[in-house]
Amino acid sequence: MSVTARALALDALERIERDGAYANLLLPEMLSRTGLAPRDRNFATELVYGGTRMRRACDFLVDRFLTRDIEPRVRNALRLGAYQLHFLAMKPHAAVGETVEVAPKAARGLVNAVLRRVAEHPVIWPDDATRLSYPDWIVAALEADLGKEAAHAALAVMNEAPSVTERADGYVQDLASQWVATAVGAQDGDRVADLCAAPGGKATLLAATGAWVAAGDIRPGRVGLIRSNAPGLAVLTADAARPPFAPGCFDRVLIDAPCSGLGTLRRRPDARWRIDAAAPARLAAVQKQLVSAAVGLLRPGGTLVYAVCTLTDAEGRGIDEHLAATSPELEPLEPLGAPWERCGRGLRLLPQAADTDGMYLLRLRRRA
Ligand SMILES: C[S@@+](CC[C@H](N)C(=O)[O-])C[C@H]1O[C@@H](n2cnc3c(N)ncnc32)[C@H](O)[C@@H]1O
Repeated sequence: MSVTARALALDALERIERDGAYANLLLPEMLSRTGLAPRDRNFATELVYGGTRMRRACDFLVDRFLTRDIEPRVRNALRLGAYQLHFLAMKPHAAVGETVEVAPKAARGLVNAVLRRVAEHPVIWPDDATRLSYPDWIVAALEADLGKEAAHAALAVMNEAPSVTERADGYVQDLASQWVATAVGAQDGDRVADLCAAPGGKATLLAATGAWVAAGDIRPGRVGLIRSNAPGLAVLTADAARPPFAPGCFDRVLIDAPCSGLGTLRRRPDARWRIDAAAPARLAAVQKQLVSAAVGLLRPGGTLVYAVCTLTDAEGRGIDEHLAATSPELEPLEPLGAPWERCGRGLRLLPQAADTDGMYLLRLRRRA
């Protein structure tokens, strides 16, 4: 018998949770081995991505009616059913009946009984983190840094499937990333360093201006990705904390730093369950090293651009405060307008502002 969308989704949910598989790598690979019609592929994708994002909320929905521990596959079948009932608002006869069919045989009575009760009982959420389905620490961190209202709006938008934007050259890249590359302001003939460049999304846009672009990354495997994406660049494997260039030799330096990624959670459904609460502080220490090293590469009048796809102050405003204290020779460039908003001397883009990833961007010029 051929696999159904729900059966495939149940296998995927289990492998994502049990084996730590990445949803956005695992699912395309699983789908490629089935003969599912496009409509069923889309449904399986919705179930796997949505069921993974809303794992905590779905657990709350079913735990109200469970009186004993259940094995992981049964729990994932219940999540699948609860997701269809609550978040896809599917009719109970379809959602319950078809989910029961893919559940382990011995637990089908239980799955049926629990899902029927989920369908019948309205929910009163115990707290915002359960309702929005994020770990407590992410909700607390964004509430503290963005304010409650903006944080909840950002978290809600990141529970939706992302829009897909394709550049004129066919490269698929979120609009926010394209805006960051444009904000570097590279001109024909400029010498530009993009020192955290893999897989090369922004470096290719920088090179399209006619600038000479050195694109580096610390991880050799990822440096190969830059080469295959952008044959015309000067590609190097290097630690941006110790860049192998003479002082003052660049017109522009982009540090698109490694970060906690809390602005891109909509495109990485399992990421919220992986990132640990210590990540923002740990990464901020690295980011400070990278920007400080980059300052030394700027010619007088040269521009430093720092960007991260996250929304924590530690990795945004905090990095600017570090630079303000350690590099008085830098002054801010004119701020950009909406959908960017001012954040200290830098800018923040909330995911709800323009249906993009969330970002922090800082543009500073070395005084001539
Ligand atoms: C946000 S990603 C860059 C995305 C890329 N700029 C683009 O637009 O396609 C951050 C990159 O920084 C790299 N990285 C992390 N630490 C680094 C370091 N110390 N020096 C250079 N690259 C580093 C990671 O390997 C990763 O590829």
